[in-house]
Amino acid sequence: MWKGRFTQDTSSLVQQFGESISFDWRLFPHDIAGSIAHARAQLNAGLLTAEEFASIEGGLRGIEAEILAGGFEFKTSLEDIHMNIEAELTRRIGPAGAKLHTARSRNDQVATDTRLYCRTQIDELAELMRGLQLALLGQAERHAATVIPGYTHLQRGQPVTAGHHFLAYVEMLDRDQSRLADCRRRLNVSPLGSGALAGSTINLDRHAIAAELGFDSVTRNSMDAIADRDYIAELLFVIALCGAHLSRLSEDLILWCSSEFAFAALSDAHTTGSSLMPQKKNPDVCELTRGKTGRLVGNLVNLLVAMKGLPLTYNRDLQEDKPPLFDSIDTLALVLAVNTEMVAALELRAENCHRAAADPMLLATDLADHLVKAGVPFRHAHELVGKAVAEAIRTGTPLDRLDFAALDPAFPADSAAVFSLDRALAARTNPGSPSIENVRQEIQRFKAADDAAR
Ligand code: ARG
Repeated sequence: MWKGRFTQDTSSLVQQFGESISFDWRLFPHDIAGSIAHARAQLNAGLLTAEEFASIEGGLRGIEAEILAGGFEFKTSLEDIHMNIEAELTRRIGPAGAKLHTARSRNDQVATDTRLYCRTQIDELAELMRGLQLALLGQAERHAATVIPGYTHLQRGQPVTAGHHFLAYVEMLDRDQSRLADCRRRLNVSPLGSGALAGSTINLDRHAIAAELGFDSVTRNSMDAIADRDYIAELLFVIALCGAHLSRLSEDLILWCSSEFAFAALSDAHTTGSSLMPQKKNPDVCELTRGKTGRLVGNLVNLLVAMKGLPLTYNRDLQEDKPPLFDSIDTLALVLAVNTEMVAALELRAENCHRAAADPMLLATDLADHLVKAGVPFRHAHELVGKAVAEAIRTGTPLDRLDFAALDPAFPADSAAVFSLDRALAARTNPGSPSIENVRQEIQRFKAADDAAR
């Protein structure tokens, strides 16, 4: 493609070192859409005849069909997807193919292709996130009234419902989707027409090209447009954060499925056995989700480090943006799909959950609140209940069986009545709190919002 200036061929080692076709081939539908839009603008500018445009469009569609059918032969010597397609087009249609690259560089071409690719993938990831949300909502609905201990520091804190716990992850995935939408909005700008870095002396209608490709607008600075990979960094961050959320879910499920907790059981289809220990049922999907999140974070860091020292505008380092991008997208898509299946098939062991949550110590805070309602300042109430807890531990008496009146006259006569899980949950009616009624309302709200968004 640059043979004019050169007298030697590229060394085969350099070809092997510099090729990107082994991974950027997947940009092909976007590369072809971009080229057709670009050619149409050339037609409208009088740079192509109608026949030339038709043969370019037909040639590109033919190549696209062949790639889709798996019959296209990519050549490493042609380095990347852009040159593979253009060279084949010219081979097929002749002189008109050689006109396609007028007023365009691979620099604005690759920026266009990756934006279009990210946009498509964002839509698919959002749909997969929604699928996992629906699986979590299903569990929340089933277990809106299943009481479990809520933890801080992995120490039992206060009772909540399993439904409330599942809905926490629905919230995280809601934010992940809204971050995807933000990222999509910011990246949906057309860089085509920025050329190698300084636009072109040949004016094509950038707005028409942008409209044909579904972009909302055109980039405003050719140098920024060529050097910019912010949209990839943003997407890698959104993916890494979603991975972190699912890694936390994994950790919860690993704990819940241990014999020590015994709150839940994963299905046989989503666990593995041991080649040595016949009794084992291992939560590998959760562990792999946790492990793969390391890669997702690494991919983000990989790109940021590659970008940080680059002078404007294009530098070949930028070719290294694609392996982490593709890997993060593929990985998260699979993580979301497998977690959706696994969560849907999860069985909660409600009796065990309830037994763990029935520990009266979990209502120590409620007892302090009870004293507050009787006029005791909270710090004083906290201390009184702390003493009651110490007494319960010292004498081996369950907290709810203490003689509160004998401990301190500040305890109201009905203090023992605080130790009812039903009452404790029913009292948590503030927005965001885990009363069964709140959890049911939240489920309805999510479903209605989801219906409205369809
Ligand atoms: N394969 C290249 C990449 O992904 C395409 C752009 C090449 N541009 C250049 N000036 N060499 O970055």
